[in-house]
Amino acid sequence: MSAELSPIDKAKFVAARRAADFVEDGMRVGLGTGSTAAWLVRCLGEMVRENGLRIRGVPTSSRTASLARDEGIEVITLDEARWLDITIDGADEFDGALNLIKGGGGALLQEKIVATASDRMVVIADAAKEVAHLGAFPLPVEVVPFGWRTTEALVAEALESMDVMGRETALRMNGTEPYVTDEGNYILDLRLGRIGNARQLALVLNQMPGVVENGLFIDICDTVVVGHGDGRLELR
Ligand code: 5RP
Repeated sequence: MSAELSPIDKAKFVAARRAADFVEDGMRVGLGTGSTAAWLVRCLGEMVRENGLRIRGVPTSSRTASLARDEGIEVITLDEARWLDITIDGADEFDGALNLIKGGGGALLQEKIVATASDRMVVIADAAKEVAHLGAFPLPVEVVPFGWRTTEALVAEALESMDVMGRETALRMNGTEPYVTDEGNYILDLRLGRIGNARQLALVLNQMPGVVENGLFIDICDTVVVGHGDGRLELR
């Protein structure tokens, strides 16, 4: 499977394949979203088809649901599963405390709900995602479409008193239209450069009317599997 991969895809693939080893027969598994998580779904699909692994997967987006079904994985809802044994997902950034920025692929809301409802959350990432301080990657904030400009102004005002380096906000676009999440919401991307106090920022953002969820995952991730382009692996 990994023969002709570019270094970045190889890094994602080896991380995904290693994380698939954490999945045991009978588990309820949260399935992340994004290009790295897609490798995981393919690895699990292969284990289901070829090794007889029996799992039930809870996808974190319509994209992942469709890939999981194509791969032969039984898909159930979180309400059917209630609680999950493990969730494996990608990330846009992770720091030394295993706090994350997620939502580059627009699925942060379902991803956070699913990860929080899991005994264990494992992140799979290429080495470039590791940072000393979160914030170089724009922080996604999911907002309801109603009054989004007002919500954006409130967010911008709140950022004035936050320990961040940049304070630019932008509505995520899909061509000429706003990007719409699986829940029918919009996403504001906050260009913060460096986040001094991620825990405080996450709390402040989620207190605002109009904000549904933010992409900071604080104290949710248990393990990060880091893949390198030459096939090496590290566990954090
Ligand atoms: C989607 C996410 C993804 O996990 C994150 O954007 C990383 O994606 P990729 O594996 O494609 O780099 O949070 O909402």
